[in-house]
Amino acid sequence: MTAGEEPLVLVETQGRVGLLTLNRPRQLNALNDALMDQLGAALLAFERDERIGAIVIAGGAKAFAAGADIEAMADWSFMDVYQSGFITRNWEAVRQVRKPVLAAVAGYAMGGGCELALACDIIVAGESARFALPEIKLAMLPGAGGTQRLPRAIGKAKAMDMCLSARMLDAQEADRLGLVSRVVPDAELRAHTLALATQIAGYSLPALMAIKEAVNRAWESSLSEGILFERRALYERFASDDAHEGMHAFLDKRSPVFTHR
Ligand code: CAA
Repeated sequence: MTAGEEPLVLVETQGRVGLLTLNRPRQLNALNDALMDQLGAALLAFERDERIGAIVIAGGAKAFAAGADIEAMADWSFMDVYQSGFITRNWEAVRQVRKPVLAAVAGYAMGGGCELALACDIIVAGESARFALPEIKLAMLPGAGGTQRLPRAIGKAKAMDMCLSARMLDAQEADRLGLVSRVVPDAELRAHTLALATQIAGYSLPALMAIKEAVNRAWESSLSEGILFERRALYERFASDDAHEGMHAFLDKRSPVFTHR
């Protein structure tokens, strides 16, 4: 970004919550490299900032994001994307974040926009939210995790339908299928998501990180491996100050004071 240019990602903090707002409204937040570089850098900065306990990624009223930038990609060659590490280089930052990441989705979440939301831990949808992986219409492929995360989230039958036919889900259907965590009126989306993130960020950060890691392990391992991982994570809780504080506070009938240690 050069001086005087509008940032493509607006960065704010609210208490222990880091809020990132995608800011390319005229292109419906189409995710070009400059935007994804800024998003990745902001995510990793919040990850390093010990004052931040949870992160929200929001879009605009008409679109969370309408996908990877088709205009930018249209003439790229294999070598262009291979050598630059397209997607891997910056989109994968969301996967490196160990703190909880919430997506606040109103309007279109299409292609890479849907995949960005899928990479988050919790999706709060406004009633206007629309989810689709329409890459097939371009003779492309959902290449930011869509073919992998969507079947895990909603099952093969529905995922195949969405990927092969470009079928769009509205917020209620996305809720029924388990693609989103909650649906709220659009007017309440930002406040609701920030309140949820504030609630989450008030808990012990190392406990949140351990839970996120364990739930993600359920996607990537067998049940017995996952249970073993979970049991180890539980045992590790007994090495933390916060777990002892949390349990003693309960017994003392007082609010816990977490130090995030
Ligand atoms: N890339 C680049 N520009 C985009 C864009 C995208 N993904 N989506 C929208 N825009 C631009 C439009 O070209 C248009 O620009 P102009 O005003 O300069 O013409 C502007 O945003 C507004 O869009 P529309 O006029 O199309 O708005 P609409 O309300 O008529 O339609 C929409 C909205 C249904 C979301 C439509 O814009 C659309 O279908 N967008 C493309 C969605 C898509 O195919 N996404 C997948 C991209 S590929 C991908 O993501 C690959 C991957 O996995 C990484």
